[in-house]
Amino acid sequence: MASDIPSIAPAGIALDGGAKKTLLRKIPHGLFICGVAEGEAVNGFTASWVTQGSFEPPLVVMAVRADSTSNGMIERSGLFSLNVLAADQKDLAAVFFKPQQGVGGRFEAAPFQLGPLGLPILEDALGAVECQVVGQVAHGDHTVFVGEVRSAVLHRDGAALELGPTGWQYGG
Ligand SMILES: Cc1cc2nc3c(=O)[nH]c(=O)nc-3n(C[C@H](O)[C@H](O)[C@H](O)COP(=O)(O)O)c2cc1C
Repeated sequence: MASDIPSIAPAGIALDGGAKKTLLRKIPHGLFICGVAEGEAVNGFTASWVTQGSFEPPLVVMAVRADSTSNGMIERSGLFSLNVLAADQKDLAAVFFKPQQGVGGRFEAAPFQLGPLGLPILEDALGAVECQVVGQVAHGDHTVFVGEVRSAVLHRDGAALELGPTGWQYGG
């Protein structure tokens, strides 16, 4: 838990909420479809809080809403995939953050196959990696998962979808 980590930061510092929001929204993000699986069930959601965390072993870091369906599925399975969308796949990203008809219903808009680790790999994405969770911090409204990349498939290369040009906000 983050609260167990010793710190010499002084208490009682007032946070400038406006400055914090303006600055954090300037962190550039991509847009990905995270795939999860538990038993026979699969699910997927749009994720933007994603970055690489190590070359060797290859690690990625992703923050997942604590109250989402997928958060519990990742905690229980210890696995997730990250599908990299092409720059012209904004509509697909929108499908995967909207409410759905039952867990996994969003995949009706996007054909997928299961990768070597059993996670959803979107056929129309640029490609995907499958990750095994090697660490997590559950502190606040998102859980930060650290995943080791165990498989990777490249369907085609090209420009990836980025958050900025969509006009959507997720951050601050
Ligand atoms: C632009 C955008 C970016 C998002 N990025 C994330 C993210 O990084 N992590 C996250 O947990 N949810 C993110 N979401 C919200 C999820 O896509 C949304 O809560 C989804 O419904 C969760 O699905 P689930 O409950 O089926 O797991 C984002 C939403 C939008 C609109």
